[in-house]
Amino acid sequence: SNSDFGLIGLAVMGQNLVLNVESRGFQVSVYNRTTSVTEEFVSAHPDKKLVGAKSLEEFVQSLAAPRKVMIMVKAGGPVDAVIEQLIPLLDKGDIIIDGGNSLYTDTERRDKWLGDLGFRFIGAGVSGGEEGARKGPSIMPGGPASTWDVMKPIFESIAAKVDGEPCVTHIGPGGAGHYVKMIHNGIEYGDMQLICEAYNIFKAAGFDAEELAEVFTEWNEGDLESYLIQITSKIFAQQDPETGKALVDYILDTAGQKGTGKWTIMNAVENAVVISTINAAVEARILSSMKDKRVEASKVLEGPKPKIDEKKKKLVKKVHDALFASKIISYAQGLDLIATMGKEKNWGLDLGKIAAIWRGGCIIRARFLNDITDAYRKNPELSNLMLAPYFTDLLNEFQENWREVVSIATLAGIPVPAFSASLGYYDSYRSAVLPANLLQAQRDFFGAHTYERTDKPRGEFFHTEWPEVIG
Ligand code: 6PG
Repeated sequence: SNSDFGLIGLAVMGQNLVLNVESRGFQVSVYNRTTSVTEEFVSAHPDKKLVGAKSLEEFVQSLAAPRKVMIMVKAGGPVDAVIEQLIPLLDKGDIIIDGGNSLYTDTERRDKWLGDLGFRFIGAGVSGGEEGARKGPSIMPGGPASTWDVMKPIFESIAAKVDGEPCVTHIGPGGAGHYVKMIHNGIEYGDMQLICEAYNIFKAAGFDAEELAEVFTEWNEGDLESYLIQITSKIFAQQDPETGKALVDYILDTAGQKGTGKWTIMNAVENAVVISTINAAVEARILSSMKDKRVEASKVLEGPKPKIDEKKKKLVKKVHDALFASKIISYAQGLDLIATMGKEKNWGLDLGKIAAIWRGGCIIRARFLNDITDAYRKNPELSNLMLAPYFTDLLNEFQENWREVVSIATLAGIPVPAFSASLGYYDSYRSAVLPANLLQAQRDFFGAHTYERTDKPRGEFFHTEWPEVIG
């Protein structure tokens, strides 16, 4: 019993995490439900300090106390099933870590369940895909601070590093880690959709895949530098071996999703926080998946020809500004939701630390997360990212081109739901006066809901006897 760490679930993420932990000098025990997977994995790495267990009993016995067991299985029922099997085998004080994309309320339930039994539980968001898992992910652990202290050396050694700082921090108690990972994913959806809308505009302006690869490569060398922009440039450069043409043109336009985006929206509605960019991104995936209906509708519902006549170079600059501005809005909304929920749950979240651990390892890593980190380090109570002076300046600079891009696209019948939702949020947020005076009148008209007046102190409510409507 001398393994420092154990991992259950040897799918690609699990395997890569194991190799990452082992590479930092730890001995790792592994267990997979299908034993042949365990055997193949261990024998494929004969020079590594790995212990392959055929049974859970053997696995648990191979671990040094207090045992540290990470579960990397499908979110939902499978996590509970593994925990139930582990409970009779573990000792009090042993640590179970769930590293999947679990719903944070499930994590809160498990936190209580296992805590009551005397075990220690950490629900940890792990981002970075297969490569991140192997070389250094961004990790968002929740659970008790005292458990974090025990796990800190391993987590810090396997996490990505930015300026020497590991991309992991104790997010907060209970489900806080998985919650923050959920919002990370919502933001990831937003970033991806915004990039897709930029692509759609460029397509209508006649850019071919080679030109697109160039644009994205160039963007990745500037202020938009990010993992998702980088992989997008590589995607455009990828040829289909069958046809020798751009692979992207052969990929069917129906997007899947596993749930974290939808959960983010549901939580935003519950907290009355506007995350319209992320909403638009989730809904865009839903609309994309309705391929047959779209094909039918395309035959009868009219619109302009999706053609944009703009000088390519100028268009690239305009779309850059629209994309960057929308991206700022998306992060402003996601962070607003985190801040709101953090207060609601008393999690004591530190947004500067959260932004800092997203600078490396995770899917949304981006140069501008440095500026977000700075903004929150300067002002931890920042009410909205748009109001940090650095971002206010950027938005003021970008807003004209942003409007133009939304207009150009709209006039050409190209859907830009995330660009326009972001712009709608920006314009609403900066409107000292909105038309909700009329809305209040309507509410008072049909339901006597009362209203406040512009010429009277807030908190005084009025009702009007509106004329009767007949028929
Ligand atoms: C990450 C990713 C990863 C995965 C999600 C989203 O941070 O590494 O977010 O966790 O991509 O499961 O997947 P869907 O797009 O299928 O919802």
